[in-house]
Amino acid sequence: MASRQRTVTFDGAPAPGMINFGVGQPSADLLPVDLMRAASADFLASAEPIELNYGERQGDVRFRAALAEFLTLNYAHPVGPDELFVSAGNSQALDFLCGQLARQGDTVFIEEPTYFLAHQIFADHGLKMVGIPVDDDGLRIDLLIEQLKKHRPVMIYTIPSFHNPGGQTLSHERRKLLAELSLEHDFLVVADEVYQLLHYFKEPPPALGTMTGSGNILSLGSFSKIMAPGLRLGWIQTSSELMERLLGTGVVNSGGCFNHFTSHVVRHAIELGLQQELLAKLRATYRRRVETMDAALHEHLAGLATWKRPDGGYFFWLELEKGADASALRKLAADYRTGFQAGEVFSCRHGLNNCLRLSFAHYGEEDIREGIARLGALLRENPVVS
Ligand SMILES: Cc1ncc(COP(=O)(O)O)c(C=O)c1O
Repeated sequence: MASRQRTVTFDGAPAPGMINFGVGQPSADLLPVDLMRAASADFLASAEPIELNYGERQGDVRFRAALAEFLTLNYAHPVGPDELFVSAGNSQALDFLCGQLARQGDTVFIEEPTYFLAHQIFADHGLKMVGIPVDDDGLRIDLLIEQLKKHRPVMIYTIPSFHNPGGQTLSHERRKLLAELSLEHDFLVVADEVYQLLHYFKEPPPALGTMTGSGNILSLGSFSKIMAPGLRLGWIQTSSELMERLLGTGVVNSGGCFNHFTSHVVRHAIELGLQQELLAKLRATYRRRVETMDAALHEHLAGLATWKRPDGGYFFWLELEKGADASALRKLAADYRTGFQAGEVFSCRHGLNNCLRLSFAHYGEEDIREGIARLGALLRENPVVS
């Protein structure tokens, strides 16, 4: 019998004693082991051997039906199982869409700033990135229109609700304009809606997933933020025409659904009402953390940075004075046993280096208070590093 390695870790895990707000993963107390135990037992008690086969390319229809019901309830908009394609999370879905719907050398529009690891996925596929700035209402549609005069993008990648890193939400009006422009200029809208259901104060406008009938839209959703990242389970919601293109691809024809087994277990979690319960717990916990971080920032960083309290998602986005070098500060942060992500990693132009991103997902309230006090000391003692 093989010997068992018992140490558990993850890439980017903070050293003991560190409070690193750069980590964008849930804290261990929010990872639902009991839920998984109950859902797995419920599934395995009645599992049939056939469930361990490849299954359907689009994803098990019973899972898609359960997911459709869950989304219908939470989007307050009817979602049907046929609109859903099962993915292994939004990163995999994005990589898959780049591989299937774009060709090397194509142009993709992205937000400036955007989720930093998405840059790498587009680079992996040899896509040219053009950054479109965002403001408090999300993607600047006026600047998108300007860029459409110069480029013919194959797709735009957007994070409409509770942006990573900025925290802002695309207004209803801009969502409609974006859908219209996608038809007029024939580009795809890949909407990463990973934070859509994580609202704590104010609900965002309807997901772009509810608008797949009116634009070239593919909405990406994931269980990473509403259940557990380690499940590697998500979905693509789209129109029947785009669904045909996804189903006709070799990898799907050869391997079937990207994460069939996990989808059985998560179906049981949804059917038992456990996902809905967990969502309520996550919203309540993160809301308290946002309030705690906001209060701690006012106490320790007033006059050193500006920010807006996010209504949902995982992040605060802080702007330091012009000329500040967040990357240099980040190197010094370890001495203060704190950490964050520097703004420039979210920029396709190596800009935004006077900004930084803090995640409140990985720490409880006490650690948040302590970590922000340390951050305050770092900024006070190292005014503008360049
Ligand atoms: C905007 C955004 N997209 C995608 C992901 C990763 O999603 P998944 O775990 O479903 O691959 C993250 C995680 O931080 C994210 O913030």
